[in-house]
Amino acid sequence: MSDPTAVVTGGTAGIGRATAEGLTSNGYNVIIVGHNRERGERVAGDMRERTVGARVTFVVADLTSLDDVGLLAQRLLQRYPRLDVLVHNFGGMYAERRVTRDGYEATFATNVLTPLRLTLQLLPALRAATTSRVVFVNSDAHKFAKPDLDDLNADRFYRGFDVHARAKLLQLLVARHLGNQLADSGVSVLSVNPGGTWTEQVAAMTPKMMPPMMRLWWPMIRFVQRRRSTEKAAQPAIRAATDPGLAGRTGLWISENNKVGQPSGTARDDQLAARVYERIIHMVDGSSAR
Ligand SMILES: NC(=O)c1ccc[n+]([C@@H]2O[C@H](COP(=O)([O-])OP(=O)(O)OC[C@H]3O[C@@H](n4cnc5c(N)ncnc54)[C@H](OP(=O)(O)O)[C@@H]3O)[C@@H](O)[C@H]2O)c1
Repeated sequence: MSDPTAVVTGGTAGIGRATAEGLTSNGYNVIIVGHNRERGERVAGDMRERTVGARVTFVVADLTSLDDVGLLAQRLLQRYPRLDVLVHNFGGMYAERRVTRDGYEATFATNVLTPLRLTLQLLPALRAATTSRVVFVNSDAHKFAKPDLDDLNADRFYRGFDVHARAKLLQLLVARHLGNQLADSGVSVLSVNPGGTWTEQVAAMTPKMMPPMMRLWWPMIRFVQRRRSTEKAAQPAIRAATDPGLAGRTGLWISENNKVGQPSGTARDDQLAARVYERIIHMVDGSSAR
């Protein structure tokens, strides 16, 4: 049988790049997705040089756009009829409110809508593998969020961290519902917390994005982020994607210490997960999980 194939979104830098490198070392044929073509080609070339025999391909897509994600999925399906791993690593966090081409707030769009669309469209390839895994790179930030479904676009209130935390909670609920829908299909859905590490997204954070209480901890937060390597932060995603001991297990959460654990109680609420899915599926405009 040919080598397993993995797609990593936002695989050209930060945690995504470290995840892609880890998968390459584990013998995966890896496709990294980013929107900067020049950097993407360069990084894929670097990764091929670094690991003998590594098969790394860059595919360009703007992951803020549902249309672009649709085209990305079509291209991937044409080239890779079987996919073993899909890592939804990219997920935006922004100091100022941004709206995507589709008219959605960008944090919500990139953490929830575009990953869901990509998953749904890639299901034929994921199902073509005997067992496959969809991994969502989430965050402990979800524990600070309330499942407010009345302001999904953050029209009423925007503060970067709060909107990011809610998007991560919604992402977990969507992942849970997907996992439930896909039970017994051979496609497992797992989520991970990479923990803090210094990346482009993190470098762009400002104290103003944080709730006032958390601003008091700002120097400590920055210290922790600078101290931890992206390689370490990638371990939970690599484990979720590759650990044979997790085969066939769905709905799992891997903590920043690379241990199987649990997300918040809210994130494990099946009824809420179904309600969130129903509320957003029309925004995604893809086929349903069944
Ligand atoms: N870093 C942390 O401390 C931390 C903590 C908890 C959770 N997380 C989560 O971990 C994940 C990765 O975070 P990170 O900090 O590693 O992020 P990052 O460094 O900001 O991610 C950069 C990657 O995202 C890609 N990207 C940016 N905008 C894009 C777009 N519009 N379309 C396609 N690709 C785009 C970049 O590709 P280009 O080459 O095209 O720019 C690059 O590959 C996120 O889901 C984040 O929420 C991170």
